[in-house]
Amino acid sequence: WGTLHNNLKKINTAIFFSGRGSNMESLIKATKNQNFPASIPVVITNNKSAPGIQLAKNHFIPVEILDKNKFNRSEFESNSQKILLDYKIEMICLAGFMQILSKKFVYSWQNRIINIHPSYLPKNKGLYPQKQVIDEKASYTGCSVHFVNEKIDDGKIILQEKVKVMHNDNVQTLSDRILEKEHIIYPRALKKIALEILEIKN
Ligand code: GAR
Repeated sequence: WGTLHNNLKKINTAIFFSGRGSNMESLIKATKNQNFPASIPVVITNNKSAPGIQLAKNHFIPVEILDKNKFNRSEFESNSQKILLDYKIEMICLAGFMQILSKKFVYSWQNRIINIHPSYLPKNKGLYPQKQVIDEKASYTGCSVHFVNEKIDDGKIILQEKVKVMHNDNVQTLSDRILEKEHIIYPRALKKIALEILEIKN
């Protein structure tokens, strides 16, 4: 009869994004593997002009648009909660989501929201971390996937990767090399956490 794989449980995961969406796409691609322990039934953006919207559509993933000019943070979050419930979401990945989530929202998803940040945390938190690294003339930086808590870029680190800074790097060249690593570690981190959740559930 061959091997049946259709009973593999998967963690329903939503992605929040605001822009280009390349990390979102790397997660979507990873979930296409039938043995990957998470699936992505919906993605949510707070930016109606985000290029990532088309990327998600190309993969036939429903995109919910709660534009920042129409929905304030509290409206964004209450509408998102409804969507997350509708799709039976168990976990959220932030992928270039450039809006700080309220404490209330974060507490309601404790240990279930993860984020990717383009620095070797706890170094270079906040905005423009790659520029911070160039300005500091640091010798290395990297990227980190971490749990989201009520502070910015602060929760427990799940996976991180170092990237060497070259003497002739500028913000663009450095960001590009970090991004390549981001696309590798984010799916790995999602897999790790999804497997942990599945273990708790069994
Ligand atoms: C990525 O480099 C991500 O790490 C960063 O924004 C970029 C989004 O690109 N996120 C942050 O700085 C969050 N603090 P993408 O839309 O192509 O994934």
